Amino acid sequence: MTSERADRPVLDAPIRALFERVAALSDGRKPDLAAIGAALVELAADVDYLTPWMRRLDGQSGAVPIHAPARGPRLTVVHRSEGQMSAVHDHGTWVAISPIVGVETHRRWRVVRDDGAPPRVELADDRALARRDVATLLPPDDVHDHGHLAGRGPAAHVLILLGDQQTRFTRNEWDPATGRHRVLVPGDGGRWLASEPMPSETGAPSSLAVRPAPGRAGSGRSRA
Ligand SMILES: [Fe+2]
Repeated sequence: MTSERADRPVLDAPIRALFERVAALSDGRKPDLAAIGAALVELAADVDYLTPWMRRLDGQSGAVPIHAPARGPRLTVVHRSEGQMSAVHDHGTWVAISPIVGVETHRRWRVVRDDGAPPRVELADDRALARRDVATLLPPDDVHDHGHLAGRGPAAHVLILLGDQQTRFTRNEWDPATGRHRVLVPGDGGRWLASEPMPSETGAPSSLAVRPAPGRAGSGRSRA
């Protein structure tokens, strides 16, 4: 597990190795997402090391940060339960995702901008990610959703590696069922699940909006 010193975290060897590789592959230039994805797959295959991290979720839908510095790349274990998909969203930074166990649906959406109309999304790609698979995205071609679709195997626990703290950025989310688009201002983590109603146009949560109950200590609901 990761422990803390007064000034900086001391990372377990597998995590330190990943972040050293990521630093070399993303330092001051366009990230090499193919190589970053391969490094993430290598870590995701280490189920023995990652099992204690997955157990922190206790089978509940949620996210547990493994390494989350103030800025720069960060790593999280994420689980969405049977039949749960995220909202359609972007991150404002590069991302790589790879299952540790289970099958994660990962769909990419094309943004269509008609004159005078809010941007809308059309399905562009639909993948079922299993062990040793990876998906990577680089803005601006990074609108996606992910999670579990019924009938596609067991719900996954995945590693998600983000290039930076996503809530620093102005981002977007959509509801393809209604066509609604929403701008997420910095600090807004967005909806955890597509099934949650979008907040009202005023920015206040809808009276119908129900957030999932908080997970166990250490799990978070900021979308990953
Ligand atoms: Fe995402």
